[in-house]
Formats: sequence, C-alpha cells, structure tokens
Amino acid sequence: MTKLDTIRIMNAVDIIIKKRNGAELSRTEIDDFINGITAGTIPDYQAAAWLMAVYFQGMTDRETTDLTLAMAASGEQLDLHDVLPGTVIVDKHSSGGVGDKTTLAVGPIVAACGLPVGKMSGRGLSFSGGTIDKLESIRGWSAEVSEAHFRRQLRAIGLVVAAQTADLAPADKILYALRDVTGTVPSLPLIAGSIMSKKLAAGADAIVLDVKCGRGAFMETLTDAQALARQMVAIGTLAGRKVTALITQMEQPLGLAVGNALEVQEAIAALHGCGPADFQELVEVVAGEMLLIAGAASDLGNAREQVSAVIDNGHAFVRFCDFVASQGGDPALVEHPERLPAAPLVIAVPAPSGGYVHALDAREVGLVTLDLGGGRQKKGDLIDPAVGVVLAAKVGSTVNAGETLCTVHAASRAAADAAIPRLQAAYTIATQPAAPLPILLDRVTG
Ligand code: URA
Repeated sequence: MTKLDTIRIMNAVDIIIKKRNGAELSRTEIDDFINGITAGTIPDYQAAAWLMAVYFQGMTDRETTDLTLAMAASGEQLDLHDVLPGTVIVDKHSSGGVGDKTTLAVGPIVAACGLPVGKMSGRGLSFSGGTIDKLESIRGWSAEVSEAHFRRQLRAIGLVVAAQTADLAPADKILYALRDVTGTVPSLPLIAGSIMSKKLAAGADAIVLDVKCGRGAFMETLTDAQALARQMVAIGTLAGRKVTALITQMEQPLGLAVGNALEVQEAIAALHGCGPADFQELVEVVAGEMLLIAGAASDLGNAREQVSAVIDNGHAFVRFCDFVASQGGDPALVEHPERLPAAPLVIAVPAPSGGYVHALDAREVGLVTLDLGGGRQKKGDLIDPAVGVVLAAKVGSTVNAGETLCTVHAASRAAADAAIPRLQAAYTIATQPAAPLPILLDRVTG
C-alpha cells in the first residue's frame, strides 16, 4: 500500500465519521470518497459504513447534487448525438417496484413513434424486479452489448436496452451492489444519486422518471416520493437536461403478473393494446410524456394519439421483435409468448373469506416471488425466469370465499405451499366496497 493510499483510507474514516455524526460533507470530501470507491482504494467495508451513515443522517440537497455529479463523472460519459444527429435522445427510469415491466412496452412504443431510446437498465434490487432479468427470460437475449453495437442498434432500430457497463457510472455500480446487501436501498439521496448519475452519464437529453410510491416501492409515502421526484428533477435541470417525474401507484403490484417471463408476456400484451388496465394506462402515460418532453408532440393529447396509433398499427410490437432479435433473443418467443419459460406447477390461491379487496401488499408479493426463485437472495444467485405470481383480484375487486385471489407459478410443491398462506395474508378483504387505486398520483416538472 502506498503512502497516498494510506492517506486516502484515513480520509475515508474521517468522512465516514463526519457523516455518521450528521455533519454536511463538502464537495471535495464527496468527490474524494467517490473517487476512492471507483479506484478501489476505499474498500467495500468502508463504503458500506458510509452508506449506512448516509442512510441514517441523510444528505442536504447540495450534498445529493454533488454526490450525483461525482458518480456521473466516475466513468465514461456517453455522447450519442453523433449516432443520430439532430435527434433528441430520450430516456426513462423507474425508481423500482413490483411487477414493473413498463420499460419493455414503453421503449418499443416510443421508438416506433420515431424517437430513439438508448437505455441502461438494472437487475432486480431487493423485492423489486429488474428490466434486464425480465428480458433475459427470452432465450438468447443479452444485455451485454459493446458500445459499437449500442450505437449501431440505436441507429438501425431506435431501441437498445443494455446493462450498465463497467465504464458508465462505475461508482454507482459498486454502491448499488453494496446497498442491495446492506439494507441501505431506501434512502432518498442514494436513490436520487444512483438513478440520476446513470441518466446523466448515459447522455439522454430528456428524461421521464417514474417515481413509485407505496408498499412495493422504496418511497412509501407521497411526501417522500414527491421529495425524491423534486430532487431528481432539480439535479437533471441543473445538468442541462429536461426532466419530468411522474409519481405512480405502488401500493399493489403493477398489472397482474409478477415474475420475469410472466411479466414479459404481460408487456407483449400491452404492445398489442390489451395489457391489464392499470399497466396499459401507465405505459401509455409514460410513453406520451417521453414524446412530449422530447418535443415530438404538441401536447399530451397529441402524444397519446401517436402512442395509440403505433400500438394499433402493430409498429410498436414489430419494433420489440426487432430489438429482441438484434440483442440475440429468439423472436419466435415474442411472437408466441406462451413458449416462454413456464413453471411446472400453477396453483390457485383461494380467498379465505368473501368481500371486497381493500389492500394488496405489493412488497409481500415481491418477496414471495423472490423466495419462489424469481429474484436473488444474495449477489450472483441464479434466478428462475418461470416462477412468480399472477393476480386475479386487485384493490376494488369483489371476491367470494374460496374464489381465486391469484395463482402461484412455482418450481416445486414445497415452494408453492410456502407461498400460498403468505399471499392470502397479503390481501386485506373487508365487507365494505373499496375503490380501485388510481395509477398516476402526481407529476413534477422542471
Ligand atoms: N433504481 C436505481 O437505478 N437505483 C436505485 O437506487 C433505485 C432504483
């Protein structure tokens, strides 16, 4: 270890202690810490201690902005303007939720409307699924694309979904993996920094953020979700990007399917215009916002007309097939989604009592899916693309005792038996009628 490394490690301790004690870090201290993490001179155990200090003490708006900019600058910063000169590059990002397959449908729709979408996506984090895990249930599809492939495909098809490369916001890649295993995911400054650093480094001019709110999200209250939305919009605006944040419902899972291949099937249904109502609405709202923010629509009404047109004429679906094939996936599985991986056991979960569904704990449905094998218990675990849960009843539904609440798609009888009582308990059924939950809760613009 060089003398310089030792000084850096001493600095790291001071920075951890300062944050642990609730003081505000300077820009230099944040830059030093992020540079140390990126260079590997700050080991995981110090990074983890610092994450926990941030989790408990929070960060000021200025610290969060400095953290985001430092993480964005920790690696390469893409400039995609030479790929399609004169075109606005638009991106979307979700703060993470249960059953959230929105990108799979929104990307092809926006691309079919003529706006290129070049996206870096993530894997599942805790109870929340990840776009890449879902797409990997299509045999052969790969998120590992070279920069040359990324540019070529963006020009040819207008849609790329790639894994975060080691070169792009590498500090986030390191911290994201550590947060997942240290209980430090649900922190406003850490989420804002993680999402916005990737978005800034990936070179989008215009960004639509889908900030999830509720039991199945990292922000459980509307106040927290609004604070996260405002913070991310402010950071993006400061960095010269156009940003709109939508705050959307995550008290219950989005759509009906939770689980990787099951969600791909549901996204394909939405591309044909026949997804479950809440999911279809969200897809069309987010796609419309992307067209609007990129200046490709005169107003939201016009944006929604363009979105409906490419769903109705099949162009969005064709774009999805081309995208899957271009990243090595078997397009026959998209044309025949019933051939996607399927679980050997599909078992109905009966309602223990009759009445109206008042609540459905999205987090528990996400955790059940994780325990069925649809997510990772620890870094590097293999996931089972076929397993998951398909809801038959959501908030506002009427159910009779013994009627199916949902179905479990499991790899074994033991796994299904463990899931069934947990899913029954995830439902709150009462005798008074309950209204369905609205999908869009708020909209924050720059
Ligand atoms: N998505 C991200 O990219 N980062 C987070 O911290 C949460 C969701």
